[in-house]
Amino acid sequence: MLPVDLETLRLFLHVLAATIWVGGQLVLAALVPALRRAGSEVPRAAASAFNRIAWPAFGVLVVTGIWNIAAEGDRGPAYRTTLTVKLVVVAASGVTAFLHSRATSRRGMAVFGALTGLTALAALLLGIVLAG
Ligand code: HEM
Repeated sequence: MLPVDLETLRLFLHVLAATIWVGGQLVLAALVPALRRAGSEVPRAAASAFNRIAWPAFGVLVVTGIWNIAAEGDRGPAYRTTLTVKLVVVAASGVTAFLHSRATSRRGMAVFGALTGLTALAALLLGIVLAG
């Protein structure tokens, strides 16, 4: 059998946290119509329950992301540029998720919700590019 080592743990934790941050947002968005039918306050309650695991997952992404950088080292200018773009979209995903959770208007919820989802997907894609 292939070895399970520290690199496995580093990538496992990074990808696990990414599944929660990115996949959780997509699943929650898909459930919103059904949650609304269950009661007007239900989507907000579900979102705040999700936030209790989403923000710790975001923290794990940052910590294991720094671990990734330390482990991979400097892999040239194209890698650095890709990493920089990824960090910008990660920051945008975090900020827009925060603004989404604070939004009071339906329009604000929709705009910041779409932005956090799209930037999270972009971070996922760029993560795959970095690891490739
Ligand atoms: C929304 C946040 C993030 C998502 C969704 C995400 C997702 C991913 C994914 C899916 C991979 C590929 C793992 C693999 O296939 O082995 C990856 C790799 C990587 N990520 Fe992230 N990531 C996020 C945040 C971060 C942050 C904050 C950093 C840096 C501080 C970072 C640095 C890296 C690096 C350097 C790699 C390449 C690892 C390697 O080649 O071994 N990521 N990321």
